[in-house]
Amino acid sequence: MESITLHNPLDMHLHLREGEILKTILPYSTDTFLGAVVMPNLKQPITDTRLAEAYYETIKKIANDFNPIMTIYLTNDLKKQDLQQAISKGFKILKLYPKGSTTNSSNGVENILDHKMQQILEIAQDLGFILSIHAESSGFSLDREYEFLKVFEYLSQTFPKLKIILEHMSDHRSIKVLDSFENIFATLTLHHITMDLDDLLGKGLNPHYFCKPILKTKKDKEMLLNLAITAHPKVSFGSDSAPHLLSTKLSSNASAGIFSAPFLLESLAELFEKHNALANLQKFISDNAFKNYNLSFKNQKTIVLKKQPCIIPESIACMDDKIIPLHAGKTLQWSLDKS
Ligand code: NCD
Ligand code: ZN
Repeated sequence: MESITLHNPLDMHLHLREGEILKTILPYSTDTFLGAVVMPNLKQPITDTRLAEAYYETIKKIANDFNPIMTIYLTNDLKKQDLQQAISKGFKILKLYPKGSTTNSSNGVENILDHKMQQILEIAQDLGFILSIHAESSGFSLDREYEFLKVFEYLSQTFPKLKIILEHMSDHRSIKVLDSFENIFATLTLHHITMDLDDLLGKGLNPHYFCKPILKTKKDKEMLLNLAITAHPKVSFGSDSAPHLLSTKLSSNASAGIFSAPFLLESLAELFEKHNALANLQKFISDNAFKNYNLSFKNQKTIVLKKQPCIIPESIACMDDKIIPLHAGKTLQWSLDKS
């Protein structure tokens, strides 16, 4: 095959940050994606409609044709009125971070199963929200997602009409939960379906492959890859592209996050071609998300990829520092056809 056409690609989990970093990285997503689910974990988290509106406007000012799908950072302080207001503005995704689980999650939820949170989720269910979860316990790194699965089982049964998304699925043991509960869905990143713990530390520690949830075993990678290349109907692509400046990546308390936004479609095309699954890429990159999140936009976007090598840059300058993209320096077999 010499060219691939993709319609309305969506990135269902994206960190866009703010200020100079936002300006630097946004074009990498807007060049290729029609829209993205924008994560709310800024330094001041997006905890209400007013903040979400302001963030939405900031993004739209830089990229008018891009469709930011805003998320509200779930806290115990959310009232019925706040939830009604969010829905009335079209903000229908709540993002749940267990307190302390990842970057900027200190305002996250301490006890998901307490009475207050149950009341909020009851209202969220009635109003038709989608609940996206950073699914990690505070236990042993490789078991954090697994230990969290019981929360999914509980929430799924208690709120059967609430759509619940297991974000950046990283553990093959989660697949059973995805398949057993009707209202549970998932997003998959490029890195969790192509890399494992050996990439992070098998040949010396590589901070650019350090992310939350942490990369896991070969078996996890392979089973999750299989969900992607078969375009499992309950799974959508969400890059979890999460840029950090090199200085913070190299500090002793290195920040978790992989900046994969540049070259996502080119990389996915190569991966799906390798597994003889190009016919399923459209579903994985767009159709499943439209269906599962009930989306519609005013505009459309068609992307054509051509069989021509391109090279991922070594670094991207930002704020007297730089950001290192995933697989910096690597040559890919597909490039964006800008003609
Ligand atoms: C994300 C970030 O840096 O904001 N980091 C990451 O490793 N994925 C937060 C998150 O999604 O966990
Ligand atoms: Zn994330």
